[in-house]
Amino acid sequence: MNLAIVCGSAAESLARRTAGISGAELIEVSRRTFPDGEQYVRVCGNVEGKEVAVFQSFAFSPDRLFMEYALIVDALKGMGCSRVIGVFPYLAYARQDERFAKGEPLSTRVFADLIESAGTDEVFTVDMHLHRFHEINEVFRVPATNLTAMPLLAEHYLKAGGSARALVVGPDAESRQWASKVGAILSSECIVLEKERLGDREVRISDVKRTDCSSAVIVDDMVSTGKTLLEVLGKLKGIGMKKVDAIATHSLLVEGAYARLKEAGLASLITTDTVENPHAGVSVAPLLSRALLERGKFRG
Ligand code: R5P
Repeated sequence: MNLAIVCGSAAESLARRTAGISGAELIEVSRRTFPDGEQYVRVCGNVEGKEVAVFQSFAFSPDRLFMEYALIVDALKGMGCSRVIGVFPYLAYARQDERFAKGEPLSTRVFADLIESAGTDEVFTVDMHLHRFHEINEVFRVPATNLTAMPLLAEHYLKAGGSARALVVGPDAESRQWASKVGAILSSECIVLEKERLGDREVRISDVKRTDCSSAVIVDDMVSTGKTLLEVLGKLKGIGMKKVDAIATHSLLVEGAYARLKEAGLASLITTDTVENPHAGVSVAPLLSRALLERGKFRG
């Protein structure tokens, strides 16, 4: 096999799991930070002529993690690798996909441009926050594929005792793409609510009509502060929903979000390891492994 895998510091476990499943050689990177904060990396292995998948998940400190990624890519190119495939289980800056106010940047585009100019030849990511850009190929100029973990998450929900008749609830317009996938697998009713963002930590969610369903599953791409899930959970509890679970691909769970959700009565959060977190019951490693081995088939 001509494929090797290199792990960035924020996707180490997932990269190792994917290498184990795919049989691709895992190439180690040693790294340290200089006293003044600059980063140093060294790729330890032979990549000459190889296609190299560099894993990096851009959660929590995307700017530092991007710099680490760019240094690794430059090292690989300097060693004569034939192609760099950027594997970004969680891609940052995707939510600022519009200049919402005068003077703002189009961060989604800026970040994609930086990834490309670092030397990336191809991109894979999972459940990218695509809203105003409808397709990943509107964002990246290099070949790019947006995989989805929703079928894996829906199957896990069912296996864990979730009801195939649960009401599937998307919190906002952009969640329709994820909620409808889960709804199709469960063959259940799917509704999409309206969300108004009042600030970084405050959202307002539209009311939910009464229903015969006694359980519901909220579906979103990511949970960060957990406020979106909390508000939807409140609305569902308010109409007497007995059991409410949530499915989200990316769990950033900042500022005590998980504890707040459990306290508010969320039955379970079903999530993946795109961002390392203790609640990940589903690994996207098999999905990434298949996509890397069968690249032609997955390319969008
Ligand atoms: C935004 O539209 C996303 O799809 C999520 O709904 C949002 O980022 C979740 O953030 P939080 O958990 O902070 O409400």
